[in-house]
Amino acid sequence: MFKVPPISADRLPALLRAMPKAELHIHIEGSLEPELIFALAERNGLTLPYASVEELRSAYAFTNLQSFLDIYYAGASVLLHEQDFYDMARAYLGRAARDNVLHAEIFFDPQTHTERGVAMETVINGLHRACRDARTELGISATLILCFLRHLSEESAFETLEQAQPLLDKIVGVGLDSSEVGHPPEKFARVFARCRELGLRLVAHAGEEGPPAYIWSALDVLKVERIDHGVQAVHDAALMQRLAQDRVALTVCPLSNQKLRVFPDLADHNLGKLLDAGLAATVNSDDPAYFGGYINDNFTQVFAATHLTARHAYQLAFNSFEASFAGNADKRVWEHKLKETFERCVEHDY
Ligand code: HPA
Ligand code: ZN
Repeated sequence: MFKVPPISADRLPALLRAMPKAELHIHIEGSLEPELIFALAERNGLTLPYASVEELRSAYAFTNLQSFLDIYYAGASVLLHEQDFYDMARAYLGRAARDNVLHAEIFFDPQTHTERGVAMETVINGLHRACRDARTELGISATLILCFLRHLSEESAFETLEQAQPLLDKIVGVGLDSSEVGHPPEKFARVFARCRELGLRLVAHAGEEGPPAYIWSALDVLKVERIDHGVQAVHDAALMQRLAQDRVALTVCPLSNQKLRVFPDLADHNLGKLLDAGLAATVNSDDPAYFGGYINDNFTQVFAATHLTARHAYQLAFNSFEASFAGNADKRVWEHKLKETFERCVEHDY
């Protein structure tokens, strides 16, 4: 492992912004900014229950996960046509590239759209075309992860998988999101087993609001390769050991955790504790349009609030590449660029 040189605290924010990174936990519907929600509503002839962008933004005052999900699903209802999905994903990828994201693995919630009568191919083709164009126009690599909504039934998840089957070459894997408590991973054991047979990569949200037991079953029943959030793992020493030993990545989202009150304050966030226990944590934005910041805002704000160091910064960016579903050749190139950024920072010439 590269020996990270000492870098003073005042130079850390610039380094955090400049360092190359991968984003592994971003819900594309959560990147829909109020301005784009209004523009798409107008384009599609829809009337929103809010008079202005400002009024919509002022409704973003959340008390827990469910209070956010209610407004997040309402915002996504303006997405009807392939071009709408394209515009949303293209806007996110442009923003991510400015934060020096080299690779993004993007979640999408097809059931939110198919339940409103939008075809699966409309969703996937729009998102996939945006990923393809972003590669040539921005040099950013991007892939898609289909998430099943855990508040819906196993039957609905199987139906969703069937609808996606002709388009599986356009997605890299599947995940599990939405209301966690009361919807344990076991509910989707058979769907995930089928996805595994189909050669899809597997991830799941677990231990955001839910207990460590949900993280154990995501690993042992669903057989996922990464845990989304996972911050509740600190309450179970045996689980911490398992996650560290197997280098299971956690895709942590500090501003989301702050806004949904998973921690009383950003200063109370346990990111440093997870890293110091040897877990492969990463930093991500979750739903940046709703939680007040994109990936670099997550990095700079959690570092400022919890006094993390340059060594933690390097580890987080390295983990993000290592935990991605990209090939080894890409990972080595990105990790080399990361090392170069740190070396340039020491020489004061960026
Ligand atoms: N948790 C669960 N479901 C979600 C989230 C989240 O943070 N964001 C979008 N869907
Ligand atoms: Zn999430």
